[in-house]
Amino acid sequence: MQYSHKVMEHLKNPRNMGKMENPDGVGEGGNPVCGDMITITIRVKEDIIDEIRFETRGCGAAIAVSSMVADLAKGKTIAEAMNITGKLVAEELGGLPKNDLHCSNLGVDTLHLAIRDYLDRKEGRIRRRKEEKLEQITANTECCCCPYCDAEFPKDAAICVRCGNHIG
Ligand code: FES
Repeated sequence: MQYSHKVMEHLKNPRNMGKMENPDGVGEGGNPVCGDMITITIRVKEDIIDEIRFETRGCGAAIAVSSMVADLAKGKTIAEAMNITGKLVAEELGGLPKNDLHCSNLGVDTLHLAIRDYLDRKEGRIRRRKEEKLEQITANTECCCCPYCDAEFPKDAAICVRCGNHIG
């Protein structure tokens, strides 16, 4: 399967690409198998993702996915953005080749990491040190499971990072 017209459009003209100074939340995602890396930064105003930027090192699909994830998340509430799925992103891109479907999950997981980082900072629970990866912090944090979807999340989290339900 070739890239769709929509994927090519996002590849040629990626939306919201670049760095953000002093973001409210940062997500850093990587796939150890293909080596692709995505960083997503967000600025939140009154529970709405007001600004979003991405930096992606990886395949064409990962770049198009990052651009589409940013497009879909911008202007959404935190809970709405938590409901964005890899399947939705792939559909909005007019489909992805089978081997590239994991790229859409990487983009969405990275967005959700950025939101989780924002929520943690807001609650003052975890201050992310610059040199630390978010995954390392959460791995050392006591975890619980969401009663709705069973995803693991740091103890005392207010929102499940997978299904977006309020659990606090
Ligand atoms: Fe792995 Fe694109 S090939 S994220």
